Amino acid sequence: MITIYTWLANAVKALEKAKNDGILDGYCIPKREVYYLLSHVLGKNSAYLMAFGEEQLNDVEIAQLNHILEQRLEGRPIAYILGIKEFWSLPLKVSQATLIPRPDTESLIEKILELYSNKALSVLDLGTGTGAIVFALAKERPNWQFLGVDLISDAVDLALENKVRLAQLISDIDRIDFRQSNWFDTIDREECFDIIVSNPPYICESDEHLSQGDVRFEPKTALVSLANGLADLNHITKSAKKHLKKGGHLFLEHGYLQHESVKTLFLSHGYKNIQSYQDYNGKDRITFAQYGGL
Ligand SMILES: C[S@@+](CC[C@H](N)C(=O)[O-])C[C@H]1O[C@@H](n2cnc3c(N)ncnc32)[C@H](O)[C@@H]1O
Repeated sequence: MITIYTWLANAVKALEKAKNDGILDGYCIPKREVYYLLSHVLGKNSAYLMAFGEEQLNDVEIAQLNHILEQRLEGRPIAYILGIKEFWSLPLKVSQATLIPRPDTESLIEKILELYSNKALSVLDLGTGTGAIVFALAKERPNWQFLGVDLISDAVDLALENKVRLAQLISDIDRIDFRQSNWFDTIDREECFDIIVSNPPYICESDEHLSQGDVRFEPKTALVSLANGLADLNHITKSAKKHLKKGGHLFLEHGYLQHESVKTLFLSHGYKNIQSYQDYNGKDRITFAQYGGL
């Protein structure tokens, strides 16, 4: 018979090998992931797993554990296997309809919170995916109103499902709306927001990262943009002007080599106070600026 501890030790070794072989990317932390897999199947937390490592696993548990371990060894992201990813300490449901929220995007949240207090204001999130940006801001700013849009209807359904799941963790959840839209296409011409934020697709279609790590399993609609990755960033920068209140900010997440290009886009469309900001890895991944009334 196999104990929790034996299965854990073998699984860690297998994941370490897959990481060394380049099947799993550098973000994979084998031991932590194996605890996640065990917790998912056995319904026990890591304290239990550590305390009762000598407990024997039954055949059904072993079959389930081996099945999800095999998926991970083929490179399938752990978040897609578990169906959950934590973002800003919120448990978000994830699916292959959209991107798995990244810790880097939390630095975008921090910047917005630093600039804006809880005074009532409106936020538009373009390409909302799971709704990660909306939910994180809504948790911290109970007076704000939100609209999140996405091109992909399954992503909108996912964000709506997360809205229901997070109702206990975020006050007055009905101030959050989600809808399907191709960027601004369904936004009324007159409708303006204090803040527009987006983490749009920005990877060039020939970028080698698309065939590595977790990204291989994520939809191209969430990742790839034409014009060397800049087409959507350009479209948003140009169109957001008509939907920002005077002096409102547009915040964009982008690739680590794109900040100069994004600054140029902001400049060419007449924005002011353009600034880039670093993510947790010290890369310029966020650029924001103000439009009108300055
Ligand atoms: C990089 S993901 C970001 C998801 C989420 N905001 C986050 O930060 O985790 C980009 C999102 O933009 C959406 N998207 C792509 N093209 C779009 C378009 N033309 N209009 C609206 N959303 C779009 C994708 O479906 C995807 O959910």
